Amino acid sequence: MASSYFVHTLISLFITPLVLIALFAFFPFFCISRIILFLYRFVVSENMKGKVVLITGASSGIGEELAYEYARRGCSLAIVARREKKLWKVAEKAKSLGCLDVISIRADVSNVQHCKRFVDQTVKHFGRLDHLVNNAGITSLCSINDVTDITMFTSLMDINFWGSVYPTYFAIPHLKKTRGKVFVNSSSSAIMHPPSISFYTASKAALISFYETMRVELAPEISITIATLGYTDSEIMGGKHLKDGVMHIDSQLLSDATVLPVISCSDCAKSIISAICRKERYITEPKYISVLFFVKSVCPQAFEWFYRTFEHKFCIGHASSTKIAYK
Ligand SMILES: NC(=O)c1ccc[n+]([C@@H]2O[C@H](COP(=O)([O-])OP(=O)(O)OC[C@H]3O[C@@H](n4cnc5c(N)ncnc54)[C@H](OP(=O)(O)O)[C@@H]3O)[C@@H](O)[C@H]2O)c1
Repeated sequence: MASSYFVHTLISLFITPLVLIALFAFFPFFCISRIILFLYRFVVSENMKGKVVLITGASSGIGEELAYEYARRGCSLAIVARREKKLWKVAEKAKSLGCLDVISIRADVSNVQHCKRFVDQTVKHFGRLDHLVNNAGITSLCSINDVTDITMFTSLMDINFWGSVYPTYFAIPHLKKTRGKVFVNSSSSAIMHPPSISFYTASKAALISFYETMRVELAPEISITIATLGYTDSEIMGGKHLKDGVMHIDSQLLSDATVLPVISCSDCAKSIISAICRKERYITEPKYISVLFFVKSVCPQAFEWFYRTFEHKFCIGHASSTKIAYK
């Protein structure tokens, strides 16, 4: 026991200077290769005409705009969500924008059978699958101090984490055939850890860890792009959240808590699709959020101080929210 501790101490002593020397030696080559790769990807982008894309959570917000942007690029679409009537409207508009063919599938991504069904239905209808866009997600807004029943948040993990993992699992054999791409919508909050959304943040961080591992296991046939977006002007920003195990809407909730300006869903959608087509590993919008990630990694205390000082902005009460019906 004592000797193993000694060995670990010795390795710790040597490993830091060795890594620093290696980094210093390889850094110029690393930078050059990154620039070459960036320029190559800037020029070579996938032509989406005639390709088949499956989008979850396409009935509103970012998913809806992703459907329109893929439609403009001449794709065929399978769009999935629980609100069927909203999906029909999105399908109509997508067709008018240039979508070759579109099927709307009512499904709940937290249900494994539904996920198998919509992946199978997509491949049966179109004969192939090129991009799987895991976008569906929900949020909760609640400090742990105010939780009365901890089991009320399990559906958040089921939708945000398993709701991406299930479709990915069923899509893998089809994506391998087309050397396709997987997109997953995580969040900047998975890295920034703001208060009042701990369950959401944990589900989005789980996505990053899972898909980082998938990146290795599925290469080189399938490439993976992970989004870490900031505040985006969608129904979530309109105050849609999980409360007492069901979805509620409170329009005042997030508009009061927003400390940074929001970005539009259509701007996000354009950036996301460009990133997927160029096989980018990550996409962050607005771009300046990446600088905040760096600051957070070197000085987390600054963020903790900020969150505590402006706690009243983040720890929000639930004054007057209305239940959402999913029919
Ligand atoms: N808005 C932001 O500031 C922000 C920032 C970072 C990341 N994101 C992520 O972006 C993604 C899209 O969210 P959004 O901002 O565009 O919000 P949104 O307008 O509320 O869209 C969420 C979409 O997910 C679908 N969805 C939710 N639960 C589902 C379920 N169980 N089964 C199938 N579909 C389901 C919703 O459709 P139905 O309700 O019709 O089922 C809707 O189409 C989410 O994963 C979110 O976490 C958002």
